[in-house]
Amino acid sequence: MAVVKTVVVVGLQWGDEGKGKVTDLLASEAQMVVRYQGGNNAGHTVVVGDQEFKLHLIPSGILYPGTLCVLGNGVVIDPKVLLAEMEELAARGIDVSGIRISDRAHVILPYHPLLDRLEEDSRPAGKIGTTGRGIGPAYVDKYNRYDAIRMVDLVQPEVFKDRLAMVLERKNRLLREFYHHSGLDFQAIFDEYSAYAQRLRDRVVDTASLVNAAIDRQERVLFEGAQGSLLDVDHGTFPFVSSSNPGAAGVCAGTGVGPTKIRKVLGVIKAYSTRVGEGPFPTELPEQEVSLLRDGRGREYGVTTGRPRRCGWFDAVISRYSVMINGVNSLAVMKLDVLDHFTTIRICTAYRYRGELVKTFPSSLKMLAECEPVYEELPGWRRDTSSIKHYEDLPKEARAYLDRISELSGAPVDLVSVGWRRDETIVRRNVWE
Ligand code: GDP
Ligand code: IMO
Ligand code: MG
Repeated sequence: MAVVKTVVVVGLQWGDEGKGKVTDLLASEAQMVVRYQGGNNAGHTVVVGDQEFKLHLIPSGILYPGTLCVLGNGVVIDPKVLLAEMEELAARGIDVSGIRISDRAHVILPYHPLLDRLEEDSRPAGKIGTTGRGIGPAYVDKYNRYDAIRMVDLVQPEVFKDRLAMVLERKNRLLREFYHHSGLDFQAIFDEYSAYAQRLRDRVVDTASLVNAAIDRQERVLFEGAQGSLLDVDHGTFPFVSSSNPGAAGVCAGTGVGPTKIRKVLGVIKAYSTRVGEGPFPTELPEQEVSLLRDGRGREYGVTTGRPRRCGWFDAVISRYSVMINGVNSLAVMKLDVLDHFTTIRICTAYRYRGELVKTFPSSLKMLAECEPVYEELPGWRRDTSSIKHYEDLPKEARAYLDRISELSGAPVDLVSVGWRRDETIVRRNVWE
């Protein structure tokens, strides 16, 4: 059997599917783990034994010494957050020497989180429910071009000084005139961020060449998605999305690796659905029923903001759509154990809209709001699955549930996760094969 050298780990719902756990698991065999978009809006949990790690910017391959952990050009980087995360890991004995940062990645500066919050508070039609980390404003500057500062600018003191002076002058005008804010101080930001630049300088490199060279050497490279397909600015529940392309297509633009080099797309999906922040969620459960999924083993509270996650049943309209737009050829179904105590489990197979059956995911929020989920009921297994190691040992009702997910989504289930720990995973087929 041919060995697969490049795997993309991509979330198929609204984020928090368990990408961190899956990345950590597959990283044991990889030489390189690459983040390709998003920033510290992400919160990826990795649990090894009784140690829990919550990663925001640093790739979830960091727990293996010797693995190169790359932040690609598509990532927006808050140097302060990155350094704090590196320090926290180092204090826990983790080797952070393998971190590399793209010289073309864009920098999050203090006015970005500030504007993120001010913009949210000023939206007349309601909030997006962002994480407040400055992600949207940083990507706006990138695409607007004029006000952007990249890592390559940050690490050249003279360039940084000139650019920051110019950009901050414009940002302060916006802050004062539109938001009635007193503005930010140039010298304070320049001094603080120059010190960060000094500490990060040696890690700032041409990561496109680095990643392509690893692929050419036949090394195993893992691309770690953040957020999820329905938070994709092009394909998600717009405008209730993030400002990037979390989908598999984001890998190429966000790393400089061409599409012919990507061999496998592993879609990570929860055995039910969750969402944090605002926006449509067809299979959402009413607040009084949510605790069945949110509490207990579900622990559905945001890693980045601590917000309780909205929860609901598995939505196969969404899984089919996400498998299609990402070209998913392998599935990891997560958190099966959270369903252990249910007598019956529901799967949404289609939506009903004004009497018609809808099987493709609608672009119109107005239409989505009127869509009623059509459910199929499957019997629960009412047994603890968390210690099961082999697919055949799962209760037959659990296997039937997974088979149905696979059939409705259009991709094989190769991994099943039955707990948060690294070893609480059923590997049905080695993803690297
Ligand atoms: P990510 O953003 O996709 O990496 O996911 P998060 O880390 O934000 O959220 C996933 C949560 O589910 C974390 O608390 C994980 O520790 C936990 N988790 C992952 N897999 C499983 C599983 O199979 N069972 C249970 N009960 N928890 C899991
Ligand atoms: P991981 O990688 C879940 C959501 C926010 C909000 C919207 C826009 O842990 O799966 P932003 O701050 O990005 O402008 O917020 O996107 N969001 C996430 N939800 N998991 C994430 O990342 C998310 N990153 C952003 O809650 O609704
Ligand atoms: Mg998360």
